[in-house]
This record gives sequence, structure tokens and C-alpha cells, in this order.
Amino acid sequence: MRFHILTLFPDAFRILTEYSIIGRAVERGLISVEATDIRQFTSDRHGTADDYQFGGGPGMVMKPEPVFAADAVLAGTSLAEREHTPVVLTSPQGRLLNQQLVDEFAAAPGVVIICGHYAGVDERIRTGLITHEVSIGDYVLTGGELAAMVIIDAVCRFVPDVVGSEENVREDSITSGVLQHPLYTRPAEFRGMPAPEVLRSKSLERTLRHRPDLLETAPLTNSDRVYLAELGWDGSDV
Ligand code: 6GU
Repeated sequence: MRFHILTLFPDAFRILTEYSIIGRAVERGLISVEATDIRQFTSDRHGTADDYQFGGGPGMVMKPEPVFAADAVLAGTSLAEREHTPVVLTSPQGRLLNQQLVDEFAAAPGVVIICGHYAGVDERIRTGLITHEVSIGDYVLTGGELAAMVIIDAVCRFVPDVVGSEENVREDSITSGVLQHPLYTRPAEFRGMPAPEVLRSKSLERTLRHRPDLLETAPLTNSDRVYLAELGWDGSDV
């Protein structure tokens, strides 16, 4: 999965590509994240990427020329691949990102993301370049970079091998249609707050069935031993 980002702040994406699960996915070559500086494609010495609005409204507008020129990031991509590569504009006016849209992007060979800035973009970017306009929520950010990172993160979870367990990805909340059950880990009791007995008994039952050897050394409570004895465990000394 190839992510091509057109942005005024390419370095911002290091937060995504140098840490944790996404960082490892980049390192392992499962995904690539190429952030291209839109200013590279400006023609004046100040690297001007924005301009005043025709008609004199408030705020600046992203100019079309550098954004269209930055489309060169796809040079070398086959026409067939290009045809299936969404070109996303991040904007608070876009369609709200949800799991269905994430799935659609995850099925593509790559995604181009143009990070919106200022009051917005010249309308010709919208009509001539982009296939999807996406917002990550009904609030306004100062720029589209964080939104682009949210999209990339959510899509990457569905790239094979990025997340350890395929099962986890498909069974998480939202995707499975119901909310996740509450999670507990050791210790079984913490500051007077016990993990629910029913979870403990499920894990004891699974251990007895699949790895009874572990029970010889597991830190079992008396009630664990009683419960295991009821299931037919003969290692119990109660
Ligand atoms: Cl994609 N961009 C900006 N600037 N603000 C947003 C957004 C995007 N999504 C929610 N708010």
C-alpha cells in the first residue's frame, strides 16, 4: 500500500512513520508513506502556495498550479494503478470518514492525500484532481495533516501483516457491529477491584483444555483450584 501525501509540512509525517505499528510497517516494507512538499512545485522564490480569493472573501486559498504539478508524485505509476488510486482532499467540508470509507481505501493499491490548508482550495483542484473529499469530524483543524495521518493509520490496520492478529482487526468494535467486551489483564485483583470471575473461569477452562501443563506452575487462587476441580482437573490439592 503506497501513500502519497501532498503537503506544506512534509516533516510532520515523521510522527506517523517513525513510531510504533505504522513505523514498523514502513520499516518492513508493508506500506510506504511519501510526503511531498507542495512548495517544491511553486514557481516564485518565496514558494507561494496560496493567494487571495477572487471576489474578496476572508482567508487565503490554495493555488491550483503547484497542487496539479505535485501530481507528478504518481509518475511511474501504471495507468491501471492510477485508475484505482483515490485522490483524497482533506477538508472539514468533506464526507465524514467511517469504516466503510476506510475499507474502500484499503482495497486500493495506494492513496494520494492532498492536505488542505487556509480557507480552502481553488475549486479547480476539486473538480480536476480529487476523487474524494474527506473530513475526520465536525470541527475545524488548522490544516489537513492530522486528518491525513488519521486516514493513513486507519487504512494501514487493514494491510495484511501490519497488525499482529488479523482476527483482532476484523473483530474490533465498529467492524464487528457490536462493542468490544471489557478487557482485563493481570493482576486478577488490583486495588480492591477484581477482574470479573467469569473471565477468569473462561481462561482457566481454556488453559485446562489446551495447555494443562501450565496449571502446574500458574499462580492459582483457592477458588481457581475449586473451579478447576469441578472441571475434572486432577492436579488440585483441595
Ligand atoms: Cl480533513 N481538515 C480540516 N482543516 N479540519 C477538519 C478536517 C479536515 N476534518 C475535520 N476537521
